[in-house]
Amino acid sequence: MFVAQLADDVHLRILERQDAAELFALTDASRDHLRRWLPWLDGTRSVTDTDAFLAGALEQFAKGRGFHAGIWRLGVLCGVAGLHAIDWANRQSSLGYWIGAGYEGQGLVTMACRAILDDAFGHYGLHRMELRAAVGNERSQAVARRLGFRREGVQRDAEWLYDHFVDHIVFGMLESEWRTQSGRWRE
Ligand SMILES: CC(C)(COP(=O)(O)OP(=O)(O)OC[C@H]1O[C@@H](n2cnc3c(N)ncnc32)[C@H](O)[C@@H]1OP(=O)(O)O)[C@@H](O)C(=O)NCCC(=O)NCCS
Repeated sequence: MFVAQLADDVHLRILERQDAAELFALTDASRDHLRRWLPWLDGTRSVTDTDAFLAGALEQFAKGRGFHAGIWRLGVLCGVAGLHAIDWANRQSSLGYWIGAGYEGQGLVTMACRAILDDAFGHYGLHRMELRAAVGNERSQAVARRLGFRREGVQRDAEWLYDHFVDHIVFGMLESEWRTQSGRWRE
């Protein structure tokens, strides 16, 4: 997936090096909002940091190991969503996403995730997708529920967030479930 039109004014596109300045500006403007649940904010202090991230993300995409896409509304970058590392032996991956502080509550992430699930199960032919949300991250859990993921359990102390561990709620979705419940993707 290089570009997907999600609505008249919303599209998803693989992030490229040329997006570094806009992505860093969005990150910096949303720092407090994102830092509550994402572990990489303190390591992202300049456009150079974001550019290094994008270089790694593009390498990951080129090797077929996942991708990071920007969510644009009216040509303005609002957030990021993508597939984390693909486990090809087991045909699995997981969803990751965040949206800038001013863009919550508009359905942009759910829309982007739907397109990514279509791509994961369709184009990539994956069998299982995971979505992990920290206990307490109600908005992320709501995304999982909205997409029809099944809650499978809790992984204790799954992630170090700056100065404490958080438990993760593990949500899973199988290709057959996505196909049945979405009706959006057909072979
Ligand atoms: C988690 C996070 C991405 C969720 O963002 P979000 O804006 O709540 O999610 P969506 O973009 O799917 O928007 C859903 C909201 O838009 C509304 N909405 C409007 N149009 C919609 C549409 N077409 N489709 C779905 N929802 C729509 C929904 O009703 C919901 O509103 P509500 O929260 O008031 O009930 C965001 O809170 C975030 O970036 N948090 C910090 C980083 C983070 O936690 N990342 C995830 C780590 S696991």
